[in-house]
This record gives sequence, structure tokens and C-alpha cells, in this order.
Amino acid sequence: MASHPEYDQYTTATEVARAFSEDVRGKTVVIVGVSPQSLGESMTTALAAHSPSLVLLASRTKAKIEQVVTKVKADHPTLRLEIVEVDLSSFDSIRKGSKIINDLVDRIDILINNAAVVMTTHAFTREGLELQFGTNHIGPFLLTNLLMPKLVRAAQSSATGSTRVINVTSQGHMISPIRFSDHSFHKRPEEIPAEERPMSRPGVSFDPPPGETYAPFVAYGQSKTANILMSLYLNQHLSGAGIQSIATHPGSIWTDLSRNLDEKHLSIIEKTGGFWKDLDQGSATTLVAALDPNLADPKVIYLSDCQVAKPADWASDGRAAEQLWKLSEDIVGQQFDLAAACRL
Ligand SMILES: NC(=O)c1ccc[n+]([C@@H]2O[C@H](COP(=O)([O-])OP(=O)(O)OC[C@H]3O[C@@H](n4cnc5c(N)ncnc54)[C@H](OP(=O)(O)O)[C@@H]3O)[C@@H](O)[C@H]2O)c1
Repeated sequence: MASHPEYDQYTTATEVARAFSEDVRGKTVVIVGVSPQSLGESMTTALAAHSPSLVLLASRTKAKIEQVVTKVKADHPTLRLEIVEVDLSSFDSIRKGSKIINDLVDRIDILINNAAVVMTTHAFTREGLELQFGTNHIGPFLLTNLLMPKLVRAAQSSATGSTRVINVTSQGHMISPIRFSDHSFHKRPEEIPAEERPMSRPGVSFDPPPGETYAPFVAYGQSKTANILMSLYLNQHLSGAGIQSIATHPGSIWTDLSRNLDEKHLSIIEKTGGFWKDLDQGSATTLVAALDPNLADPKVIYLSDCQVAKPADWASDGRAAEQLWKLSEDIVGQQFDLAAACRL
């Protein structure tokens, strides 16, 4: 259970960082996916006030990260902030970016995988993966593994479970399991196994129009299920090293995430948010996951509105987590032996 059962949808990242100030002090934090008016910016702002030793901001657009740095530096001129350009839709960029990060830091106490895209068109990464699956899961999977030695290093001199990998997911994971037989949407729904089909409700269909294979929200849902399964897998295999992973649903917040949506899809999103959070509220759950010492328990996988919550069954399935890890290794062409990482 979280330390603050009173926290809820109204709680702000500013309050959370203040409450766990001692758990921020001296930490090396890497935040992936940072630009003005994004959740990455608000979590950076909240953490900056409590003397971390380094906040490294890794994202796609250098000019946008620089704008955030300028704002944060205005209030915290002595804070060490580093910028690294990484495009999660390119293995080459991730490999180059991870090398720069590994050269800049000697440890990583908290890694927040926050970057994501939402698409309505059937677009692809450099390596030909459906863009949401590639950017939102496969990219962070590769980056996290390439940074693993620095997480292990931090865990060796920290309280068990205080070294954290936070995967920002979404309640949208409830839309779809992993489509192991067709992760990049080249098949019609009736061509894939029943257990890989999206959720269905009377009157609500996530199927693509006749003759098409792409269902944008199903693709987003798949990528967000992958974020939770990655946390599950990390907890099953890294608890020996004292590293804890948690996936977080931030709530509904108007950000640039909807930049690629047309009118039709925007109006669907407008109807999904019961309560719209501001950016500070939107980052609170992620900071609880990153900082609360009470959550140092490998069984804690998913948080929503600052509390432990239950994800969809398909996102809490240990076999699916193993299968996704193997699929992700095959896709990036590299195996990651976490048992060996624990022995480093
Ligand atoms: N906002 C919501 O209501 C909501 C709800 C549920 C879950 N979430 C999750 O919250 C997280 C943050 O989203 P947000 O709302 O803050 O959206 P956002 O404002 O669009 O921020 C996303 C960040 O990811 C970066 N990014 C996108 N593609 C990238 C790539 N290929 N490589 C590296 N960085 C990339 C973006 O950089 P550029 O700006 O340079 O492209 C941006 O900094 C996401 O994981 C999202 O799924 C948000």
C-alpha cells in the first residue's frame, strides 16, 4: 500500500515531491520524453525543487528539451541538468543516445520511461514496426536494457527497491492485449487468435473499417499493455538486484499527445476523460511510483490516481510478460540476461 492513502486524482506532483523530498535528494534521475507543456516537463519541475544530484532529460527534439531546461534553470540555477537527443523510433538513435547517457552518469536511481506517441495513421518506425508499438514499447525496452548496468550500480548502494524503472502507461491498455501474431497490424481482426482481439462492448467496436487492417486505438492500447508487462517482467527478474519497476496511468490531461489526432478521434478522446487533470496533477502518480519507499515490493506493478490499482488481466499475465520480452529481444536482435545483470 502507498504511504499516502489520502492521495487521489487531485494530488499534485509538487506535493508528492515535497512529501518525498529526502527520496529525491542526491538522486540521479533520467526522464525520457520531455517537451514544453508535457508530463515530462511537469515531473522535471517538481523534482528539481528537491536537490537531485542530476536530472538527465532524454527526448526526440533538442530545442524542446532546451526550452524546458531554460525554465527549470530559472528557478534552480545550480541544478545539474543534462540533455540527450534520443529518437525512440530508431534503434540507431537509441544505441547512440544510450552511449551518451552511460558516459554522462555513473548511476541511475530513477528511470522514467514517459515518452509516447498517439497515431491515427498506419505509420512505421525506421525498422518497420507499427509506430506506437515501436516508439512506446520497443524503444523504451531497448533503452532500458542498454542503461541497465547503471541501474544495477545504483541499486548496489541503495535500499532494496528504491532504484526504480517507471513505465508511464495508460488506462487505454484496457483496449488491447499484445497481438503476438500481428503486432504491426498487417492482418484483419478475424485473422488473429481470439485471445489477441481487443476489448468489445455492446455498441463499441474497435475493428478497422472493411478492407483495412489498422485500428489506431487498438495499437495504442497494445503499446500501453506492453508498458505494464515490461514492469511485470522486470519485477520478476530484477528483484534480486533490488530494482523495482512500476507502470503508471497518469489520468487524462490535455497535452501534445493528441497532436496527430483528427476531429473524429479527438472527439472520442474528449468523451473518455471523466476528470481532466492539470499537468501537475498528471505527474503525481508517476512521482509516487518513483519515490514512495512503501512501494518497494515486486508485487506492486500498476498505479492509478496515486494508489496501487489492478490492470487488465492481459496486462498482469506472467506468461504474456515472458513472451513479450522474448518477442522484444527478437525484434531488437539482442538478448538481455537480467540474471547476469543482477550478478554484476
Ligand atoms: N496526456 C494524457 O491524457 C495521457 C493519458 C494516459 C497516458 N499518458 C501517457 O503519458 C506519457 C506522457 O505523455 P504526454 O501526455 O505528456 O504527451 P506529450 O506532451 O506528447 O509528451 C510526449 C513526449 O514524448 C516525446 N516523444 C514522442 N516521440 C518520441 C520519440 N520517437 N523519441 C523520443 N521521444 C519522443 C515527445 O517529444 P516531442 O514533443 O519532441 O515529439 C514528448 O516530449 C505518455 O507515455 C502517454 O502515453 C498520457
